[in-house]
Amino acid sequence: MVKICCIGAGYVGGPTMAVIALKCPNIQVAVVDISTARINAWNSDTLPIYEPGLDDVVKQCRGKNLSFSTDVEKHVSEADIVFVSVNTPTKTQGLGAGKAADLTYWESAARMIADVAKSKKIVVEKSTVPVKTAEAIEKILTHNSKGVEFQILSNPEFLAEGTAISDLFNPDRVLIGGRETPGGQKAIETLRDVYAQWVPMDRIICTNLWSAELSKLAANAFLAQRISSVNSMSALCEATGADVSQVSHAVGKDTRIGPKFLNASVGFGGSCFQKDILNLVYICECNGLPEVANYWKQVIKVNDYQKTRFVNRIVSSMFNTVSGKKIAVLGFAFKKDTGDTRETPAIDVCKGLIGDKAKLSIYDPQVHQDQIQRDLSMKKFDWDHPVHLQPMSPTSVTDVTVVWDAYTATKDAHGLCILTEWDEFKKLDYQKIFDNMQKPAFVFDGRNVVDVEKLRKIGFIVYSIGKPLDEWLKDMPAVA
Ligand code: NAD
Ligand code: UGA
Repeated sequence: MVKICCIGAGYVGGPTMAVIALKCPNIQVAVVDISTARINAWNSDTLPIYEPGLDDVVKQCRGKNLSFSTDVEKHVSEADIVFVSVNTPTKTQGLGAGKAADLTYWESAARMIADVAKSKKIVVEKSTVPVKTAEAIEKILTHNSKGVEFQILSNPEFLAEGTAISDLFNPDRVLIGGRETPGGQKAIETLRDVYAQWVPMDRIICTNLWSAELSKLAANAFLAQRISSVNSMSALCEATGADVSQVSHAVGKDTRIGPKFLNASVGFGGSCFQKDILNLVYICECNGLPEVANYWKQVIKVNDYQKTRFVNRIVSSMFNTVSGKKIAVLGFAFKKDTGDTRETPAIDVCKGLIGDKAKLSIYDPQVHQDQIQRDLSMKKFDWDHPVHLQPMSPTSVTDVTVVWDAYTATKDAHGLCILTEWDEFKKLDYQKIFDNMQKPAFVFDGRNVVDVEKLRKIGFIVYSIGKPLDEWLKDMPAVA
């Protein structure tokens, strides 16, 4: 029986391995991690991540051909294929700080593999890494092994959170890069045979190593660029009276452009877009391509501008101060259907409002108070390390309360802002919310989920990203 081990039981390692185990009953899959708390959670009824459909997949395979363990070395030494799906955060110190990928966790995993391997192995890069990482990993493995043969493959993951299980069941493509040698090609075939158990062959793309590594960074950069493009248009829509939803619809009807990923928002978040673009920018700079680097940097600048613009709209609409005012924040996760808050735009928006002395009452159906407190007090990029290695925040943020429903959050509030597009925010009783708020009552919709006309009829002053402005807001400057 083929044995797979995956190092890193996170948002990628957990779901991808669970799906491999489900689709390949003839393969034994072990997911290992240095975090005991995470592994305990994977072995419990409350999985460490919220992902629709994941519970069901894990329940079907756990105890059969899927296991979760902290015995990293044992499972790595027994495996034929070792996936590495560990954190690859942005460096915070030293050369390339604020841009380059920190490969500490990857390197320590590679050294451990070399240490414990007694039989030949295929080592698969699942983490998103800088192009040419495989070369470094290859050197670490071959210089430290005792004659054991390794083949390195790049098999980047394209799943999106919230839809991870359906993305894994039915991927647009699976990408496998390997060395253009007989050994490399054989390794590619071995991994292709795993995916071929449920993915049609014409969706499995095989390339050289560097193309696979770079394609992952390029795909995330292109996706993020679309959002910054539409968000830049949202600012122009507000200035001109155009409606960004109508513009997106019209633009997306061109089959060359396509309709997906054109929703204007308060900004993109998530663990990867910013990190991977910064990494891309750094690689361009290192390769003497400053013009290319600056081009991609702009995607992040527009994203930051969008978040700042949103905060400024709130403050300027509310008589240029939110000091002492209660602002309800509906949604904290970086998108709906996940409890993940990594790089969520809510962090910057909340920090901006706290900076102006607002009192925040936050509600998110999947995010707990301690997570919100950590996020609001943690330094940039510190979140992307294994949980037990993250610096503890010295103090919690005062002026922030976290509550368990939207009606409590909005009671007696001066304004409410929507920062995640949870479906339940569309169905709230806005008349009841209006009745219980201070007047004038403001709604700032960062996700375009509310029916603007309906809310205006109730009596709210409504700002919705990229939509024609309320009379109240028209003469107020909101430049970032
Ligand atoms: P994560 O933080 O959820 O999981 C990483 C896990 O690796 C953690 O549980 C950590 O404890 C563990 N780990 C770190 N070093 C280890 C070691 N030496 N030995 C054993 N375990 C170790 O991160 P994630 O979201 O799963 O992302 C992992 C990688 O996949 C990153 O490179 C990311 O860019 C990439 N990626 C993420 C997504 C996503 O949607 N989250 C999608 C595609 C690619
Ligand atoms: C993204 C990519 O979609 C995945 O293909 C990739 O594997 C993953 O990053 C990764 O490498 O980590 P994810 O971050 O989970 O997935 O979620 P997305 O659906 O891409 O959303 C990212 C952010 O963009 C969210 O904050 C979302 O609200 C925002 N967004 C998305 C918009 O503002 N507008 C849109 O039209 C789409």
